[in-house]
Amino acid sequence: MMKLMYAPASPFVRKVRVTAMELGLDGEIELVPTEVAPGKPNGAYSKDYNPLRKIPALVTDDGTVLYDSTVICEYLDARAGGGRLIPASGDDRWRVLTLNALAQGMCEAAVLIRYETFLRPEESRWPTWVDDQWDKIWSGLNFFEGTPQSLEEPLSLAQLGLGCVLGYLEFRFSDVDWRGDLPNLATWYDVLAERDSFVLTDPAAAP
Ligand code: BEZ
Repeated sequence: MMKLMYAPASPFVRKVRVTAMELGLDGEIELVPTEVAPGKPNGAYSKDYNPLRKIPALVTDDGTVLYDSTVICEYLDARAGGGRLIPASGDDRWRVLTLNALAQGMCEAAVLIRYETFLRPEESRWPTWVDDQWDKIWSGLNFFEGTPQSLEEPLSLAQLGLGCVLGYLEFRFSDVDWRGDLPNLATWYDVLAERDSFVLTDPAAAP
């Protein structure tokens, strides 16, 4: 049995769980609740799993520790035969990995904004920095909105990652009306969000 260091609210963990479910591997993964947060050193996690103190980390059957979420998803895809959610070779592979990197960067920006606006004391916040992170997220959203083929191609890690970004925006930033400006993305996401993998990992429904 593999072990996934996890927290239900993390969009990076969600990406791994969604990937595992889409590949039919979720039954081989035990979820291990794990708390990591800025300003809360967790020496044991840092030593045993990831010195960067980030979740998710995956412990494989032979005890090897893998991170980050994209590396774990690549591992799961290979374990499921390869080329399932990440094309094995050629132009398709580089396109999916690049779009995945875009979705991953948007996700990182959204989580940093959450930390900045929720955890950081109000008097030391930097609104210009927050605006800059939002600008990155909006640039990415507009890119996907204007590139419908990236949404229509066969299901890929990039699309799952983008779905996790949109799910995180709905979960933590429900006042941001991205749907109003991005009709293609909204229609696409509503279909994606009905897949079992997204329904079963909805952070708003987690206990
Ligand atoms: C959150 O609560 O928003 C969160 C939790 C873990 C990782 C990233 C975000």
